[in-house]
Amino acid sequence: MRGKFITLEGVDGAGKSTHVEWLADQLRSRGHKVFVTREPGGTELAESLRSLMLHQPMSALGETLLAFAAREDHVRRYIAPALEAGTWVVCDRFTDSTYAYQGGGKGIDAQAIQTLSQMTHPTVNPDRTLIFDCPWEVSQARIRSGRRVLDRFEKEGRDFFERVRGAYLQAAQHEPARIRVLDATQPVEAIRAMLIQELAAL
Ligand code: TYD
Repeated sequence: MRGKFITLEGVDGAGKSTHVEWLADQLRSRGHKVFVTREPGGTELAESLRSLMLHQPMSALGETLLAFAAREDHVRRYIAPALEAGTWVVCDRFTDSTYAYQGGGKGIDAQAIQTLSQMTHPTVNPDRTLIFDCPWEVSQARIRSGRRVLDRFEKEGRDFFERVRGAYLQAAQHEPARIRVLDATQPVEAIRAMLIQELAAL
């Protein structure tokens, strides 16, 4: 049987990365083989494209094309074969990020993103997407407490953040069967309880 594809999404600073490995362990304890990965990234080529996207100045279209170049390599070489083999895949960000950041955040046409996504991964789409949602103030506090070098997206201002957040919430409204929004301001234990509930039905 084909594996399930689960993606974690959300604004920067919502803390989703904290839950990726824990979530994978939960699924393993249910007897699944699980592959954990991230975007942009997951292959040598895609990780190189990730550092360009996150740190080199470029246009919104450039970001979109790099995101899909990275994704094409990642899906073809790892994600699609894993799912085919029955392995569950947990991916930290996927195409919903491109709709939210390059589409909602930077005005790239959603139709164009849809065309690229159909060309890049026509048969690979998330079975469940968990969006970690939080307000600007919480995001900022978490990003700034990390004391590491901020990437291009983390340096954006509040307007950009609100457009990205709005795009995610709108996507969740359009696809309630696939996309679930989690209140990322809740304590970790409460979020984990919600994650278990969301995955029970898969
Ligand atoms: P993120 O996943 O938040 O990693 P970290 O926790 O290490 O900061 O960083 C990836 C950034 O890339 C994030 O700001 C969103 C951005 N991004 C896009 O703009 N478009 C995309 O298609 C993807 C996958 C990510």
